[in-house]
Amino acid sequence: TGPDVRTASGAVANEDQAVNAQQGEWLTTAVGVRLRETDKSLKAGRRGPTLMQDHHLREKITHFDHERIPERVVHARGAAAHGVFVGYGTAESVTSAHFLKKDVETPTFVRFSTVLGSRGSADTVRDTRGFATKFYTAEGNFDLVGNNIPVFFIQDGIKFPDVIHAGKPHPDREIPQAQSAHDTFWDFVSLHTEAQAHAMWNMSDRGIPRSFRMMEGFGVHTFRLVNEAGETSLVKFHWKPKLGIHAQVWEEAQITAGMDPDFHRRDLADAIEAGAYPEWELGIQVFPDTPEQMFEGIDLLDPTKIVPEELAPVQRIGKMVLNRNPSNYFAETEQVAFHAGHFVPGIEATDDALLQARLFSYVDTQLTRLGGPNFNEIPINRPHAPVNDMLRDGFHQDAVHRGVAPYHPNSLDGGCPFFAGNEQHAFVDSPVTIPPTGGPVQKTREQEASFDDHFSQVRLFWKSMTPVEQEHIIEAYSFELNKCYEQNIKARQLQHLANIDPVLCSGVAEALGLPAPDPTIELPEPEPSPALSMVGQSWPSD
Ligand code: HEM
Repeated sequence: TGPDVRTASGAVANEDQAVNAQQGEWLTTAVGVRLRETDKSLKAGRRGPTLMQDHHLREKITHFDHERIPERVVHARGAAAHGVFVGYGTAESVTSAHFLKKDVETPTFVRFSTVLGSRGSADTVRDTRGFATKFYTAEGNFDLVGNNIPVFFIQDGIKFPDVIHAGKPHPDREIPQAQSAHDTFWDFVSLHTEAQAHAMWNMSDRGIPRSFRMMEGFGVHTFRLVNEAGETSLVKFHWKPKLGIHAQVWEEAQITAGMDPDFHRRDLADAIEAGAYPEWELGIQVFPDTPEQMFEGIDLLDPTKIVPEELAPVQRIGKMVLNRNPSNYFAETEQVAFHAGHFVPGIEATDDALLQARLFSYVDTQLTRLGGPNFNEIPINRPHAPVNDMLRDGFHQDAVHRGVAPYHPNSLDGGCPFFAGNEQHAFVDSPVTIPPTGGPVQKTREQEASFDDHFSQVRLFWKSMTPVEQEHIIEAYSFELNKCYEQNIKARQLQHLANIDPVLCSGVAEALGLPAPDPTIELPEPEPSPALSMVGQSWPSD
């Protein structure tokens, strides 16, 4: 028998029972009529034609014709696994979230993905990787929808369609399929200096991970935690892999893409099947929730920046083990619907303008991708906490609701006793004071100097690399930029590299056969402290 799952009606059922399309010993039609024949269609006379009255023929082909759903608009290619998260209790002073309490076990489902390629693209391309985790907590679902790179390309979600249009294949030829080696990508990056940090992470070895099991994960944004006393803190989430962080070398990634385009999904599934369960520890960097929302001169609402771990160490708050492969790719990996706004009591959003746009985008896209408003009833999305909403009807409504009064208050269905002023475990937005803004409604943000500084952290990242890693970065920029047809795009990007570091710039310029420009902004004097690293610190193993 299979493991327990929650059915659309909310009951916990055995997985085998939930698969209600495959019962009994006989092949049947979709409405349960036994079939005698499924290999030959019904013909008129000895040599055809095929008769329309063959219901089974029409049902079989019609259903097949509608088997595909749209792939995700981004992160289309992915692989997933089930797991368990155990809280350490170390976050109790900063959050009331139940699943983070000591020894609380919470089922999880994690989907790893590439961002730009289509569903059928290769796994080992140079790209950012998605690291999305659904925690089925006793207080409802919490989704930590992160990436393996801690910074993002843009500072405001209104630019997300722009950066993705630039990163996806060219609209005319639809190439390249899954890489950033093309004109529109570098056009965007070179016209948006805020994108330089993410681009360099992509050009580093982080862009070609060895395995999903050997990647860090980052929530990227700053989130707000609230403890039992209602006190708030700002935090950044980190997943640290127990296996350490490893990359392929470029040539390896190229060969792998040809010889086994499914390399990463095979690696994940094989490891779990063999009992080599991958593990991550979850950690947080904690910052005081001040009105400025700054820490050591870094704007915490800026998703293109990190806070170096030397300034705010990552504190471990729990561990996740992935221990079960999905039994059906479509039902689980394809139909899972993550949402950056799925919070539980004790975890909240901040005013990060990138996060704010995400809060709207995920449900919106899933309405199309999953065919209507009831995708939370699909077993993989169903919370493991009781659901009692007043949402009704709609396409793919599986539940048969009781009562006559889906509104509140009412005097027909008992008023809605569940609601009676019970705030325990309820999600209540913390009454944070909105920082004084003043001024008119405006599109521009009152920037901190840190928000407009698009180069210091990129330089620091470059300086944090070993000589071998720096060589890889030069080779990656050279390879990717060489694929651009437009010379002015290469020249513009070289100018940014000159503003980051002269060695980096001259190395790439030489490979491109172009002159290395002089920097147009001052390189910092003195050099950034070598003690500050842009890459994650490993935790000593236990
Ligand atoms: C999907 C991460 C920014 C819109 C995803 C997925 C991940 C992710 C991991 C794949 C989820 C899955 O496996 O099903 C991130 C991160 C971001 C970011 C870390 C920035 C820090 C944005 C922004 C938007 C956006 C700014 C829109 C304004 C989407 C959409 C999907 C998606 C539409 C497809 C969802 C689906 O079809 O299920 N994102 N994303 N993302 N993201 Fe983001």
